[in-house]
Amino acid sequence: MSGKPKTIAVIGGTGAEGSAIALRLANAGHRVIIGSRDEAKAAKTARGLVERLGKGEISGASNLAAADAAAISILTVPFAVQSGSVAEIRPALTGKILVDATAPLVPPRVNRVQLPPAGSAVAAIQGLLGDAVRVVSAFQNVSADKLKNLDTAVDCDVLVCADDASARQSVIELVEEMGLRGIDAGPICNSAAAEALTSVLIWINRKYGVAGAGIRITGPKS
Ligand SMILES: NC(=O)c1ccc[n+]([C@@H]2O[C@H](COP(=O)([O-])OP(=O)(O)OC[C@H]3O[C@@H](n4cnc5c(N)ncnc54)[C@H](OP(=O)(O)O)[C@@H]3O)[C@@H](O)[C@H]2O)c1
Repeated sequence: MSGKPKTIAVIGGTGAEGSAIALRLANAGHRVIIGSRDEAKAAKTARGLVERLGKGEISGASNLAAADAAAISILTVPFAVQSGSVAEIRPALTGKILVDATAPLVPPRVNRVQLPPAGSAVAAIQGLLGDAVRVVSAFQNVSADKLKNLDTAVDCDVLVCADDASARQSVIELVEEMGLRGIDAGPICNSAAAEALTSVLIWINRKYGVAGAGIRITGPKS
């Protein structure tokens, strides 16, 4: 780890993507709080992850309590409940970083790009929260299946977008501590590209019968 351990909340961390991100953050030495609508469910997920890892500081809490105790919150809930979940934790976010992994998938045609009218699901959240919260977009293109397997290198880059360059850099460092390559992909409006790619990757998974198609950016050295 490059810096000191951070306290990081994973909102909706009981789900597939959130628990896999939590596992990697705890493995890197960070203190992780699993957030849930149900504290008991959060605590159970946390216990399961500690058991799996055999080490690490992972606890469970309500989504709001988790965000309140953390320096950085990572949002991992379905698109349909993204804005409601942000509203729930908003009082705890002022002056902090919110990393949003939301891909705007609209069932049943999740393998078709269907970006929201605002152009990007994550950019819309930055608009909602204003300058008081530094919103960062990341993880839309890396599957939970890949993240949760700590023994295998993840064959996927992570595009990181934010209007605040220092927040972008902080999240790129977190991504690298998790064992992936983070790519500075520019301001939050560019998140539209990462969000759209998720549907393309789901299409590729089905077309080629693979579990976790990913992306690699050529050019920058790792
Ligand atoms: N799965 C992947 O491989 C993957 C990859 C890249 C990006 N993503 C993105 O990451 C996000 C999470 O994906 P996921 O597959 O982990 O989703 P998920 O397992 O379906 O849901 C994650 C968590 O969201 C909470 N949640 C579900 N319904 C809710 C509701 N109606 N209101 C409030 N909270 C609700 C639940 O937590 P509680 O019940 O504990 O509150 C659930 O455990 C999505 O936006 C997805 O596009 C996923």
